[in-house]
Amino acid sequence: CYTPELIKQFDLKGKIVVVIDVLRATSCMVAGMGSGVETIRPVSSIEACTELGAKGYIMAGERGGKKVEHFNMGNSPFEYMEDAVRGKKVATTTTNGTKAIELSADADEIIVGAFLNLSAVVNYLENKGKDIVLFCAGWKGRYNLEDSLFAGAVCNGLRNTAAFEDDATLSALFLYQSMKDDLSYYISRSNHAARLSSFGILRDIEYCAKIDEFSVVPKLLDDHLVL
Ligand code: MLT
Repeated sequence: CYTPELIKQFDLKGKIVVVIDVLRATSCMVAGMGSGVETIRPVSSIEACTELGAKGYIMAGERGGKKVEHFNMGNSPFEYMEDAVRGKKVATTTTNGTKAIELSADADEIIVGAFLNLSAVVNYLENKGKDIVLFCAGWKGRYNLEDSLFAGAVCNGLRNTAAFEDDATLSALFLYQSMKDDLSYYISRSNHAARLSSFGILRDIEYCAKIDEFSVVPKLLDDHLVL
């Protein structure tokens, strides 16, 4: 359970990385792939996303929580569930989530997790026989509450089949166990929820706290998220 600055210290070869960005990148990816988007190409720059737009991808994403001006869509899970993106290829760039995916490049497997596919992620990871890194995207290199809460939820699901290597992981587990009965409330108190609320983006916060809306586990293959 690490943040971007810490992840660079670890050798990810042979490991499964779960990239976590509950508000809202990985929630969007799960909602999109679970709603029929053909594939999602995460990129770390607006320029790369724009170039893919010229190749027929739908351009999606945000900076600082706000839609990038010339993009086709922002970074709301509700946009990813629209009929207009069903069967389409989406290129996305976000403040933290897509950078976290890029930082995970050396991993054996990269999957994306959110509360929206919590049980599917736990089932995917169970008895895999590989080390698992729960990569919390955080906010601009800093810790955030909602990603660690989700990391703890995954640990809670694996508590009978996995060994937890460090205190960061144990802290996430205990954090989740102490807050699991009122997740929506605690997530709504996070820094990024406050930032999004100041933009009037309220329903995304509530939706991203829902558990198991989807049973898909998007996985990165040749730079694209697929099922
Ligand atoms: C992120 O990358 O941190 C999120 O995409 C931010 C957001 O969607 O508001």
